[in-house]
Amino acid sequence: MEINNLFSVKNKVAVVTGGSRGIGEMITAGFLANGAKVYITARKAPALIEKAKELSKLYDGECIPFPCDLSTSEGIDSFSNMIAENEDGIDYLINNAGAAWGEPFESFSEAGWDKVMDLNVKSIFFLTQKMKPLLIKRATLEDPSRVINIGSIDGLNVPGFPTFSYSTSKAAVHHLTRHLAAQLVPENIIVNAIAPGPYPSNMLGSAVNSDYSEIEKRNPRKRTGSPEDIAGLVIFLCSRAGAYVVGETIATDGGLVKTAGHILG
Ligand SMILES: NC(=O)c1ccc[n+]([C@@H]2O[C@H](COP(=O)([O-])OP(=O)(O)OC[C@H]3O[C@@H](n4cnc5c(N)ncnc54)[C@H](OP(=O)(O)O)[C@@H]3O)[C@@H](O)[C@H]2O)c1
Repeated sequence: MEINNLFSVKNKVAVVTGGSRGIGEMITAGFLANGAKVYITARKAPALIEKAKELSKLYDGECIPFPCDLSTSEGIDSFSNMIAENEDGIDYLINNAGAAWGEPFESFSEAGWDKVMDLNVKSIFFLTQKMKPLLIKRATLEDPSRVINIGSIDGLNVPGFPTFSYSTSKAAVHHLTRHLAAQLVPENIIVNAIAPGPYPSNMLGSAVNSDYSEIEKRNPRKRTGSPEDIAGLVIFLCSRAGAYVVGETIATDGGLVKTAGHILG
C-alpha cells in the first residue's frame, strides 16, 4: 500500500501536445516541478524551443521540444517516431493541443469545421493510436499508463460564442475519451478527459481581448483557472491517486457547469 505517496509522478515520462503556452505550458510546468521528464510539441519552433529551455531551467528538469503540426498525419508520425527513437516507453500522453474558430452562423465556413475537427478530434485519435505501443511498454495492472484528453466546458454546455465546430469538437473529445477508455483499459492504459473552464491563454484571451475581468466576476470562484488548478488535476489523474478513475470527463471551471450554467458565456 502506498497511501503515503499518492501523487508522485517522479521519474515518469510525459508527452504534452501544445506545450508551448497556455494550458499545455501549465501542465508541463506541473510535471517538471514534480520530477517527470516531458516532451512537448507545437507548430511554431522558436517559441516551443525557447519555452522548453525556460521551463527546464526554471524547474531543473528535462523538457524536450519537437516542432510539428499535429493536424496532419505526417506531423503525428514524425512526433511519435521521434519519441520512439528516444524512449523505450512513455507513462503519460496529454492530448492538449487544440484550436477554436468563431464566425456568425450565416457565414460559418467549411474551413472552420475542418481545421477544428482535424486538430481537436482526429489528431487525438491518431496520436493515441500511434503512441499505444509506447504506452503499453510502461502499463501494468498496479501502475497503468494514462491518456488525458483536454476537452472543454463548451462541450458540456452551449457556449455564448458562435463557435459551432469548437463546441461540437469538444463534445466529441469527451465521447472519444469514453470509447478509447473502453478499448484500452483491458491493456492497462487509462483514458480520461479534463474539461477546463476559463484559463488565461492566447485562445481565451483572443475571445475577450485579454480582459478577463468579466469572466472572473461571473465565475462562482471569482477568478480564472491557475497553473496549480490544471496541473493538480492532471497529476491526480496520472498518479497512484487517480488509478481507479476511468473514462471520466472532469470539469475544472470554478463551478460554472454545475452551479452556474445559466450565466455561462
Ligand atoms: N484556455 C481556456 O480557457 C480553455 C478552456 C477550455 C478548453 N481549453 C482547451 O485547452 C487546450 C489548450 O488551449 P489554450 O487555451 O492553452 O490555447 P493556446 O494558448 O492557443 O495553446 C494552444 C497550443 O496548441 C498548439 N497548437 C495549435 N495548433 C497546433 C497544431 N496543429 N499542431 C501542434 N500544436 C498545435 C499551440 O502552439 P502553435 O500555435 O505553435 O502550434 C499551443 O502550444 C485546447 O485543447 C483548448 O481547446 C482551453
